[in-house]
Amino acid sequence: MTQTQTPNPIFVEHHDRIYDRYSAHVNHRFARVLELIGFDKVFVRAKGAWLWDQDGRRYLDFLGGYSVHNTGRNHDRVKAALIDWLQSDGASMVQMEGSPLEARLAEKLAQITPGELDTCFFTNSGSETSDVAIKFARKATRKPRVLYLKSGFHGLTYGALSCSDDEMWRDGFGPFLPGCTMIPWDDLDALEREVSKGDVACLLMEPIQGEGGVRIPSDRYLPEALRILHAHGSLLAVDEVQTGFGRTGKWFAVDHWGIQPDIMAVSKGMSGGYVPVGAVVTTRKIFDKVYEDLSHAVCQTSTFGGGALAMVGALAVIEVMESEKIVENSAKVGAELLSRLQAMQSRFELVREVRGKGLMIGIEFGEPRSLTLKAGWKLVHRANRGLFGQMVSVPLMRDHAILTQIAGHNQDVHKLAPPLTIGDEEVGAFVTAYERVLVDLHKFPGPIWDLGTTLLKNSVSW
Ligand SMILES: Cc1ncc(COP(=O)(O)O)c(C=O)c1O
Repeated sequence: MTQTQTPNPIFVEHHDRIYDRYSAHVNHRFARVLELIGFDKVFVRAKGAWLWDQDGRRYLDFLGGYSVHNTGRNHDRVKAALIDWLQSDGASMVQMEGSPLEARLAEKLAQITPGELDTCFFTNSGSETSDVAIKFARKATRKPRVLYLKSGFHGLTYGALSCSDDEMWRDGFGPFLPGCTMIPWDDLDALEREVSKGDVACLLMEPIQGEGGVRIPSDRYLPEALRILHAHGSLLAVDEVQTGFGRTGKWFAVDHWGIQPDIMAVSKGMSGGYVPVGAVVTTRKIFDKVYEDLSHAVCQTSTFGGGALAMVGALAVIEVMESEKIVENSAKVGAELLSRLQAMQSRFELVREVRGKGLMIGIEFGEPRSLTLKAGWKLVHRANRGLFGQMVSVPLMRDHAILTQIAGHNQDVHKLAPPLTIGDEEVGAFVTAYERVLVDLHKFPGPIWDLGTTLLKNSVSW
């Protein structure tokens, strides 16, 4: 609000017929999916891990804006920093200057990222960051090929998409960037076979896969992969877009294995959910090979990259994360949530595995043993691969006001990514609700399977 407390018409007077207008002018297919699964709400307020809709109903957010709201929605100190910056009439995007805010944030990132990662290039999204990581690796090594992992996801711009698995994202968008090769998950021999050909710029990988279904590599993989890559003059580029900024209970997921990658991509949780931002963090040595002389001083650049609001947001987020010990909270509360969910696993035969680190948790469903449930499982999966997961997220939303979703392309995995500020209240509410949904899910026939049938009938028009 302005100083006179007059509601700003730009954002307060447009809450009527939202979905009609959204459908008419944005994405009517997505609007229809939201309507079918009962997610067609209009949220008007948000704080911490909670959202409120137009009717005043309160929702618990275990989606976290896809891992964006790590410090909780509308954190007072992040908000205040952004307001203060706006009120200062400061100079942003001068372009022909060494931005003081970029310098400050880059210094800070050098402190919190591992080892000798000390030089930053600022971006505006996760996908752009993946693209820049690929470009840096190719130019620094002067090698053409990029390896990526089965079920990996790095974004949807062309470089990122060329290194992302799954037809759901790729169908119809080819041809892709040449030289991108998918290798099997967690298989060091396969990595060595490709890398020893001598033409590999980098392996681009998520230290823990997000959209692939919260998949954690074996403890040997990352340290050994780094050794193999370096032995052949290739680089390790890690995509920490989703896992970074405390999500897994460490500042960065690679910290679980104590390694220093050559290139690190970060974004999402970096600026408190307010301003698009991302960064490629690398070593000075690699940076110098990319920006090789003065005539290449701007060979990779981005108009909005390093914008003041993004930098202020990220600096405020880091300050809040440090002072409120948010990484530690993610580790502690995540361990509690994980163990309570794992304790339920043996009682529910549709739950195959509960896994995760910190507050990045995946609940994987699998084919059950008992005959009736098995028949239902098969029927649903034959009809639509994303349907079963919705049979869990829909009742959670409808009956318990908890916002969650399935992993992007491993759709039998329910992925939890709440704000990292949650505590006992949120964990208790979630576990109680989840248990009730699992009890209902294991009644066949029952209301959740009826819901599945309804979704199935309607899905003809998806
Ligand atoms: C690991 C990873 N990399 C990259 C991206 C792409 O980020 P963005 O949607 O900001 O382009 C995502 C998005 O979910 C992601 O999870």
